Amino acid sequence: MKFQKNIPLKEFNTFGMDVNCDLFYNISSVKEVLLVLKSEEYKKNKHLILSGGSNLLFTSNFKGLILKNNIKGIEIISEEEDYIYLKVGAGENWHDFVLWTIKKGLSGLENMSLIPGNVGTSPIQNIGAYGVEVKDVITEVSGVYLEEIKEFTLNNKECNFDYRDSIFKNNLKNKTIITKVTFKLSKNAQHNTKYGAISEELKDLGLEVSTENISKAVIRIRERKLPNPAEIGNSGSFFKNPIISTTQFTELQQSHPNIVGYPSDNKNTKVSAGWLIDQCGWKGYREKDAGVHKNQALVLVNYGNASGGEIISLSQKIQSSVNDKFGIQIHPEVNIIG
Ligand code: FAD
Ligand code: EPU
Repeated sequence: MKFQKNIPLKEFNTFGMDVNCDLFYNISSVKEVLLVLKSEEYKKNKHLILSGGSNLLFTSNFKGLILKNNIKGIEIISEEEDYIYLKVGAGENWHDFVLWTIKKGLSGLENMSLIPGNVGTSPIQNIGAYGVEVKDVITEVSGVYLEEIKEFTLNNKECNFDYRDSIFKNNLKNKTIITKVTFKLSKNAQHNTKYGAISEELKDLGLEVSTENISKAVIRIRERKLPNPAEIGNSGSFFKNPIISTTQFTELQQSHPNIVGYPSDNKNTKVSAGWLIDQCGWKGYREKDAGVHKNQALVLVNYGNASGGEIISLSQKIQSSVNDKFGIQIHPEVNIIG
């Protein structure tokens, strides 16, 4: 087993935090997961599972062992007339996998093009974009329970998926390593263009609705709105969109007629946190190297040498001002690693 010592993590986290870890191990098979979990190095140290590093913020050096999930492979496990079932290694890059499915003529993932990170992390916060969430296409999630060193497979229902939420952020938080995810994709194109921006973008590009063109439109919108982590450090939306009662939302509409929100069920409304933060005047704000993105107020950025602590301090000021102005508490989406 090859444990590496004192490894810099800057290239392993999209926020670009210049921190390191005591021990680092690259895992490339389920068998290797089982071996590592039995090792002295694992037993003696605190640990963190790391995949694409695009949804976390390091606030200090990591005093422990990082297990980098590099389990690869795409396997067709069964096929029906209209659907195909693919079992995919957790360490496959998400966007490369999406492009692979589109090339094979499969639909279901195109709206989630260009989301950073890896396949195995997609169920954890039930990634989503442009009207589709990954729960719509996942049938099973497989992994290993860390404490018991026992393999498991959960079906879609058992994962308790919700908006940016799943069992892996609750009962099973930090208790598993996900190794494979199974997807059910459509062989006949079934498109979702209910998110207005997609139709507008297709029209602007002069393109008809197709799986490939939806992916192109989504990529174009995202490249315009979101900072590229290769250029400016960030972890996408820093906060989740808050869900409040529709009664409270209707009251807020009296004083703020332009407030942006969408019904999340028959009693609650999901409010656009980007709009709330923008209204508090934060968009484009910069304090040393920590800032709020100029095109999307929900994204906090590292212009180069910001520390995790500086990003956290800015995020707390934003939370307070949103609470003061609107009476709404917003919560981080990003995982804070102390
Ligand atoms: P990591 O950051 O490596 O890990 C995230 C958490 O999961 C950590 O707590 C880690 O310990 C744990 N973990 C990682 N791998 C495993 C594993 N195999 N088993 C168990 N635990 C594990 N998200 C969206 O939903 N929609 C978007 O549109 C979106 N846009 C983004 C745009 C940008 C520019 C960026 C930087 C991020 C965006 N995100 C978005 C967030 C991010 O892409 C997703 O959360 C993604 O799923 C994170 O994957 P990762 O592999 O990078 O996870
Ligand atoms: N808005 C503003 N000002 C801003 C930002 C947004 O007024 O600075 C308003 C606009 O009215 C805009 C609306 O908010 O129309 C919604 O903005 P956007 O379409 O960018 O979506 P979002 O709700 O801010 C969510 C996800 C994104 C995902 C997009 C597209 C969350 C926390 N974020 O953002 O996911 O890509 O929808 O579906 O749900 C991520 O999770 O990291 C992420 C980037």
